[in-house]
This record gives sequence, C-alpha cells and structure tokens, in this order.
Amino acid sequence: MTYTLPAGCALVDLAIRGDDRGSLIALEGDRNLPFAVARVYYVFGTKAGVSRGFHAHRKLNQLAVAVSGSCTMLVDDGSRRTALPLDRPDQGLLLGPMLWREMHDFSPDCVLLVMADTPYDESDYVRDYQAFLREVRAAA
Ligand code: TYD
Repeated sequence: MTYTLPAGCALVDLAIRGDDRGSLIALEGDRNLPFAVARVYYVFGTKAGVSRGFHAHRKLNQLAVAVSGSCTMLVDDGSRRTALPLDRPDQGLLLGPMLWREMHDFSPDCVLLVMADTPYDESDYVRDYQAFLREVRAAA
C-alpha cells in the first residue's frame, strides 16, 4: 500500500542484516538516520483502546519504528491528514517539525521505538490542535 503523506514526513526502509540465525537492524545517527540521536524512548504495554500523542513538535525530528506489533499513526501537516499502519520492524516513519501526530489501535504486543534529535523538552510541544493550525498558518 502506498500512502500520500503530509509534508515533512517519510516512510523509510531499514536494511535488515539477516542470516540463518535471524534478523538485526542497526540505526546509526547521521548514517541511515538523517540526524544525530540525542534520545531514544519506547512506548509499550499500551492498554486496549488507548490512543496517544495528540501533539506536534516545533523543532523535533524523530524516527518511529514498530519493532513489535502494530499501531496506526495519524500525521497531519495542517493541510493533509494521513493515517497509516506502523507494523514492520524494517520500516520507519520519519517525522519532522510541525506535524500533528496521533497513535491509535495499539496491538497488545506493540513496542513503538522512537529516536529523536533532542532531549525531552516540554516547551517544544504544541498540545492544542487549533494552536497547531495557527502556528502552521503563521509560518506559511
Ligand atoms: P507524552 O508526551 O504524553 O507521550 P505520548 O505523546 O506518547 O502520549 O509523555 C508521557 C510522559 O512521559 C509525560 O509525563 C512526559 C514523559 N516523557 C519523558 O519524560 N521523556 C520523553 O522523552 C517523552 C516522550 C515523554
């Protein structure tokens, strides 16, 4: 399935270093990631029916990979809104600044791994959708 994604995000294939023992994927800042990694976090054990996210970041760049299980990632640049499954450990979603994101439909075994280019900074968050639209339009 091909998705038309909002501006500022992209699906990337991650090369599998596989052999007869199984699979391994290596993510290296400034090599197969377009940024140096300052932070890694992972979302797991998400309870049934719970959705997460509902925010944008003003400056942050991230790569999100469902290393186990699946979820639906909704991304919105203020003009285009796309919901796509994250369900492969060998595919990541790059998320640039000023993208509203929501995560839904977590499978019980979902482990969503996220790499980010800055440490956690609450002041980088836009948590109100109308405020997000205002900021996107003001920057256009
Ligand atoms: P939150 O941003 O609400 O997660 P999500 O957008 O996935 O729903 O973060 C949940 C909690 O974890 C909140 O108290 C902030 C904290 N947190 C950190 O301390 N460091 C981090 O890197 C992240 C992403 C969250």
